[in-house]
Amino acid sequence: MLSDLAQTEIKELMARYPQGLSALLPALYVAQREAGWLPAAALQDVAQLFGLMPAEVEEVASFYSMFNLHPVGEYHLEVCTNVPCQLRGATGCANQLKQALGVDYGETTPDGKFTLDHMECLGACGTAPMFMATERATGKIRYFEELDAAEKVEQALGLIGSGQGFETCERYPAGPYRHGGMEPRYLLANVDKPDSHTIEVYIRDGGYETARLALTTKTPKEVLEEVKAANVRGRGGAGFPAGVKWGFLPAGVYPRYLVVNADESEPGTFKDRMIMEYDPHQLIEGIILAAYAVECKQAFIYIRGEYYFATTRLLQAIAEAGARGFLGKGQFGTANELDIIVHRGAGAYECGEETALLSSLEGGRGHPRLKPPFPAVEGLYRKPTVVNNVETICNVPHVIRHGAAWYKQFGTEKSSGFRIFCLSGWVKRPGLYELPHATTLRELIYTYGGGTPDDRPVKAVVPGGLSMKLLTETQLDTPLDYESIQGAGSMLGSAGVIVIGEGQSLVEVARRTLSFYREESCGKCTPCREGTSWLEKILIRIEAGEGNLSDLDLARSITNFVAGGRAFCPFGDAAVWGLQSHLDKFRPEFEQYIREKNPGLDRPEMPLRPTYRPSTNAAELD
Ligand code: FES
Repeated sequence: MLSDLAQTEIKELMARYPQGLSALLPALYVAQREAGWLPAAALQDVAQLFGLMPAEVEEVASFYSMFNLHPVGEYHLEVCTNVPCQLRGATGCANQLKQALGVDYGETTPDGKFTLDHMECLGACGTAPMFMATERATGKIRYFEELDAAEKVEQALGLIGSGQGFETCERYPAGPYRHGGMEPRYLLANVDKPDSHTIEVYIRDGGYETARLALTTKTPKEVLEEVKAANVRGRGGAGFPAGVKWGFLPAGVYPRYLVVNADESEPGTFKDRMIMEYDPHQLIEGIILAAYAVECKQAFIYIRGEYYFATTRLLQAIAEAGARGFLGKGQFGTANELDIIVHRGAGAYECGEETALLSSLEGGRGHPRLKPPFPAVEGLYRKPTVVNNVETICNVPHVIRHGAAWYKQFGTEKSSGFRIFCLSGWVKRPGLYELPHATTLRELIYTYGGGTPDDRPVKAVVPGGLSMKLLTETQLDTPLDYESIQGAGSMLGSAGVIVIGEGQSLVEVARRTLSFYREESCGKCTPCREGTSWLEKILIRIEAGEGNLSDLDLARSITNFVAGGRAFCPFGDAAVWGLQSHLDKFRPEFEQYIREKNPGLDRPEMPLRPTYRPSTNAAELD
């Protein structure tokens, strides 16, 4: 079934990796592009090329939401209905799409042109509402964003329908999205420059000079020690110091790998995407320095599959850097060498967890692994591996250029430096704001974000991505640093700050949150798989107006069986922390909703693969 051309492409992909099986996800993309979806015959051909059983390939393909095991239309539209989008009118956007196309979720228009689905966070929360469109014939993906008016949705549909929608895969509307913050900026300094993604522009303003100097005048240990002294803490969520992590690699064990975690999937987080789309060379320079510090010759960027445009920009940037001698053998005229492989994931939140990411990069399902051993000791292909987030790596050139003492003037002693805060939800100016740690939530929301669109009070804030506990309006003066947010009862996480306005329904937010975690649980461990499923059922029941007050105690008690380190990986805690804070801090709102039996009588938005459907007989609700 697969053409000779496709088979050759897959064989070339296999040869590209240290171990051929790593090419399984890229191979499935090739097969899907050729067949339009992944029929059994295509899976069989792929299996043969890899020396696997077809069932083994299907096992992997079925784990990832971007692989279609059923036919889809010419254009697959997936509208994001996760919480930040929901807070900014995703339901209206989705309803308009349904009406315009005459189909519901999971359906294809009679002419086979459009398939409509809803999807979890796509890393565009600051430009919500939005949908992602995939062109079946090419596998190209484009984001359509800021769809806050009916005519914008119409325009987007018109563009796709005309066949012109994928000439470029840059987001629509094109260009970097809203950003601001301190002056001068560092991480976001380049994104506004015309052609900011090209090596000419990056070099014109001093780009790659830091890497050149470091590789020609410093030892790897000197680079590592500078990053350690600066106390650059991981920007992906855990906040672990990067230099310390690098220092865990066992001495004398090679090869070593550097894996950049670009699987940005935590709802409310969309900063890495901007860097990769509009300043990819900053990331590559950071990779060069980090790889030098840890003495590795092979780096990977594991990027979420939906970030198609960012992938194209990275590939172009890597080719440009290679052509200038900054990558490959003899980097900058030294004896060093470095290769970077860009590896696309395929739609699985769990792959943001570092060991699950490594499983996926090795060609498997994105299942987490038991720690210890930690990746630094036994990571990719069981070799010492450093896994760092995109923004973390992008801090490195600035630290090496200006020094640890300069870097530490920003922020606090324990949370040094600046970072990109992702502001989304019910604010006037959602977007990215580069600010020093310890900027307060109030300053971020009001000074930079402009407050709420209709000036209603803020009800609650999620300070670090959807998985973190809510803070209330009375906590807005909390500084945004690791220690202060922890002291307030939550975590800074990925710095995805989601604002919920007075009058917005926390019942809906809670149900959307659990639908997301139920959908994204990798299914490996029981507390997480079963717990999220039961919690979602209870919340759907409540949201539909069929809940009882006792459901609140039941839900709260289930969260205790999922959190507290009972799940195999941090996903379990992440899945229920938010709900715990909803129930602990806003219980009266849930009680009122239950007593009034769903005041609006709106039916809940159904998850893609629901495990519980509320009664459809409205009379039963009386
Ligand atoms: Fe919709 Fe993030 S893109 S919630």
